[in-house]
Amino acid sequence: MANDRIRLESLKDKIMTAEQAAFLIKDGMVVGSSGFTKAGDSKAVLPAFAERAKKEQIKITLMTGASLGHDTDGKLAEAGALAKRMPFQVDRVLRNKINAGEVLFIDQHLSESAELLHNKNLPSVDIAVIEVAYIDRDGSIVPTTSVGNSVTFAALAKQVILEINMAVKEDMYGIHDIYQAEDYPHRNVIPIVAPWNKIGRKTIPLDPSKVVGVVFTDMLDSPADIAPADPKTTAIAQHILAFFENEVLLGHLTDRLLPIQAGIGKVANAVLMGFKDSNFYDLTMFSEVLQDSTFDLIDAGKLSFASASSVTVSADCYQRVFGNLQKYRDKFVLRPQNISNTPGLIRRLGIIAINTAIEFDIYGNVNSTHISGTKIMNGIGGSGDFARNAYLSVFVAQAASKGNAISHVLPMVSHVDHTEHDVDILVTDIGLADLRGLAPRERAQKIIDNCVHPDYKEQLQSYFDRARERGGHTPHLLEEAFSWHLRLAKTGSMKE
Ligand code: COA
Repeated sequence: MANDRIRLESLKDKIMTAEQAAFLIKDGMVVGSSGFTKAGDSKAVLPAFAERAKKEQIKITLMTGASLGHDTDGKLAEAGALAKRMPFQVDRVLRNKINAGEVLFIDQHLSESAELLHNKNLPSVDIAVIEVAYIDRDGSIVPTTSVGNSVTFAALAKQVILEINMAVKEDMYGIHDIYQAEDYPHRNVIPIVAPWNKIGRKTIPLDPSKVVGVVFTDMLDSPADIAPADPKTTAIAQHILAFFENEVLLGHLTDRLLPIQAGIGKVANAVLMGFKDSNFYDLTMFSEVLQDSTFDLIDAGKLSFASASSVTVSADCYQRVFGNLQKYRDKFVLRPQNISNTPGLIRRLGIIAINTAIEFDIYGNVNSTHISGTKIMNGIGGSGDFARNAYLSVFVAQAASKGNAISHVLPMVSHVDHTEHDVDILVTDIGLADLRGLAPRERAQKIIDNCVHPDYKEQLQSYFDRARERGGHTPHLLEEAFSWHLRLAKTGSMKE
């Protein structure tokens, strides 16, 4: 029964339609919304606001956890409803609007948005839109498939609209660990010393007097698109697994490894699936998003616990996990993203971070966000939170793409997200370069030897040899450093 989902009597007279709720969002407002890589996003109110924006001149600043579900960002962008967006997006329409300069975008470390809001370094949130499984008796709320920044939005927004999703079962209660660190200067230790530690409450506190609307929806998250492994992702996964096996032989790691963080997408899935047939066991994850592969590894008896901020899975996997939550509820936990991605915890737990690069250079600098230095792809997401603080920071990329017209290993990256100081291991389908303990000149030779596509090896070696003759700690030919990108723009290929 819909009304059972509102256990605080006084909120029952706030029920309204999504269209009515969308009228509570005014032009120029700062809106904070639930939603993290499609999971637990607003399914009715934001789309209804996009419909309004087709007919009216209204624009908002929209902050979320991460990307929203299937075309919500696209619908808002298309309708001209977004003035500014942060901290992450993956939508094609929105990306084009950002790159055309029509929507302003702040590409932010995912651990930081909540901190910036609490520290009053961002404009305050006027209204929050939060998807919930139900409202508890004390007015506190049970989130759904993600926590994201909802705890902060609930605490700081002047007004709140709740979307109760009837497609989500009420037994979601208990899978979240809701903890907020104290504001400065009173910040204390966050008491997590293992991924499975639960340190908070089960519901998000919310002052019911701030609730201005309650809307019912009945729609599951848009499912993750799981691209099957291909020869390149399989090769990358094999290089990484062979590296881990060797680290165990050397006595650096045990067969349990250390808690793993894996970015989303097919490479991460391929690497995680590689563990299924390996000798590793009793693995854990301390990550931000859990994908199908997490639950496949749990089912295979390889993974004992996973901590993250969202679950973004295929439709089949959704039914498998949330249709049978009793089986999985003691195997994973969802936390606010400023806890799942906290630099201090990543350092304390000794995370093995595996993220994807758009391109990297011969010294190990990584570009995760900008095509040819100018056009945003998605955003830095959590990759920076993890890479800088990890026990081992691994970045993967295909060696070349587009019929080998593009090399992903370059003289100099056209945009830097992760500096050489934050990158330990680089992997392409060609091979793996372990950069630990290497000086820039050694790093360059290792990367050229191990990671570059054969079509570009001679070209990159020639660049490095000539740069080395000129000297320097990190030798470069500045007049040539971006010539590969320029050649691609001019001729359609990076090849000389
Ligand atoms: N010029 C033009 N296109 C280029 C290019 C260049 N110089 N360099 C790369 N590209 C293209 C590739 O050809 C490819 O295009 P395609 O999709 O049409 O094939 C695309 O850029 C990159 O795709 P791919 O190499 O297949 O990587 P991906 O789809 O796995 O995504 C990121 C890589 C970096 C965009 C993605 O992982 C990301 O957004 N990361 C940042 C967020 C993050 O790491 N979060 C971590 C925690 S979840």
